[in-house]
Amino acid sequence: MKPFPIRTMLLPAAAVVATLIGWQAVAEPNRTTFPENIDQLVHYTTVKRGNVTEHMLTTPEAIAAVKNGQPIPNGTHFVLVDYRDGEVFRYFVMEKGEGWGAEYPEDRRTGDWQFQWFKPDRSINMAENTARCQSCHQGRSDSEFLFTYDRIPGFDGTMID
Ligand code: HEC
Repeated sequence: MKPFPIRTMLLPAAAVVATLIGWQAVAEPNRTTFPENIDQLVHYTTVKRGNVTEHMLTTPEAIAAVKNGQPIPNGTHFVLVDYRDGEVFRYFVMEKGEGWGAEYPEDRRTGDWQFQWFKPDRSINMAENTARCQSCHQGRSDSEFLFTYDRIPGFDGTMID
């Protein structure tokens, strides 16, 4: 008879791996980071709904790529800043990285994009399962998994409100 079921051995091993790679602080770890350069991102469009105002931001390089019909470069962030009554309520972030899609099963995958929900203090919302983000954005596979892709070509430096 084995003294310990195999699971008892695997769980501590997983915890060690998580600690080594710094994942222990997040509920649904993935590679999406809060963009350090958020102040330098370009606000290319706005969506308003009742008391909600959403500012969409990305890099000048991503905007140029879309305009030129090129793939959006790895390392790009897209940010949806969700304001409620003028205050930041949450940040929705998508980030693209080489090979990142391979970390998900095919039925969940959104190209090489990963998703995360950050609170106003820029910490991760521990309650969110980002599979939900992916399942909705999967429908936009023809436009880099973005809903506001079509607004980018018309962006001339003046934000579309
Ligand atoms: C039910 C569908 C749905 C879900 C779930 C969803 N989104 Fe979106 N997302 C949208 C729509 C629609 C837009 C366009 C803006 C709008 O209409 O509010 C959008 C816009 C965005 C944008 C701006 C870029 C773009 O695609 O236009 C980001 C970034 C984003 N979502 C991230 C997230 C993250 C992160 C999550 C999960 C925490 C998430 N989304 C969950 C539908 C969804």
